[in-house]
Amino acid sequence: MNGLIEYNVVSGIEDAAIYVGMSDNIHVAHNEVFASVAGIEIENSRHAVVENNMVYDNAGGILTFITPGLPIKTTFDVIIRNNFIVGNNHKNFGAPGSIVSGVPSGTGIIVMAADDVQIENNIIRDNKNAGIIVVDHGSFGNIPKDPESDPNPDRVSIYRNLFSNNGYEPIDDIKALMALNLTRKGPDVVTVGPGNGSCAVNKSSFKSLGLGSWPECKKTTSTDVASYLLDKPAEPRKIAAADAGEHLYRAVCAGCHAYSARMIGPPTQIIQAMYADNPQGIADYIAKPVKKREDFPPMPGQSHLSPEHRMAAAKYMLSVKN
Ligand code: HEC
Repeated sequence: MNGLIEYNVVSGIEDAAIYVGMSDNIHVAHNEVFASVAGIEIENSRHAVVENNMVYDNAGGILTFITPGLPIKTTFDVIIRNNFIVGNNHKNFGAPGSIVSGVPSGTGIIVMAADDVQIENNIIRDNKNAGIIVVDHGSFGNIPKDPESDPNPDRVSIYRNLFSNNGYEPIDDIKALMALNLTRKGPDVVTVGPGNGSCAVNKSSFKSLGLGSWPECKKTTSTDVASYLLDKPAEPRKIAAADAGEHLYRAVCAGCHAYSARMIGPPTQIIQAMYADNPQGIADYIAKPVKKREDFPPMPGQSHLSPEHRMAAAKYMLSVKN
């Protein structure tokens, strides 16, 4: 709650250079991010402004989406404005099987399953695949399902942006759409899959695919929102002892373990199968994790948690359903 990320320079990250997950009231401004798989990522988060950033030479520039299988099930109220989103054509070097590894190199902005997203006054150029992709879960590779998350992007507003030279070397899926639409111009903006209530300002001023039914926006700017940050810090939460396991899981474990998707760590579902009736086994492992998997980083030890808290988190991990 209430996070400010400003004036950072970040590069070379195998995931997102700036990663906001399961958070509310966020402001990401004046950062420079490059040579990473994703530049800036707003995931399962609400009320975020991403503005005045330099985002270049990543595989994907700015992403806002829902990862299924996390305790927070939605992403909405995201404003992406006044950013330079330029030449995000880096090779995607994301961990195989992770969601970001599915980001096609050359994409400026991806909105996946997020709602109420406003995109305004960005300079979006030289992204070889597409300037902006608006997509549902079903149309994106390797996304598991979560019955509690709506898979469609709704109410995405594309206001005035400056587009130039995007989509000059798109992926095959987009090439197929271009053929279907009898055009040879790769897109500034492309939308794939279902979604409701989206709109664009003057869509004939940029190259688009799939926006046929998008009307002109009624509201045409996001300037009514200066920031979603709260005036004062959020109240500290009081957590009943009986809820400790759930809170620890959500606050600590779910940062790396989603239910069925691969994130930093293996999916919770797989851990449930390994440790079915053995919460003590998990509690012991996390106190002093040993390296097990070649294709994952080591898990940081959790010995700062008391044995009771480790056990509570372990039991909760085994009980989570999605
Ligand atoms: C910073 C990321 C991160 C956090 C936070 C994290 N894990 Fe992990 N976890 C990992 C990674 C990475 C692995 C895979 C390690 C390996 O295979 O060497 C892993 C593996 C595991 C395993 C598998 C052990 C095995 O025998 O294969 C369990 C169980 C586990 N984590 C439980 C938890 C619990 C419970 C929490 C919260 C208290 C937690 N993890 C928090 C990253 C994390």
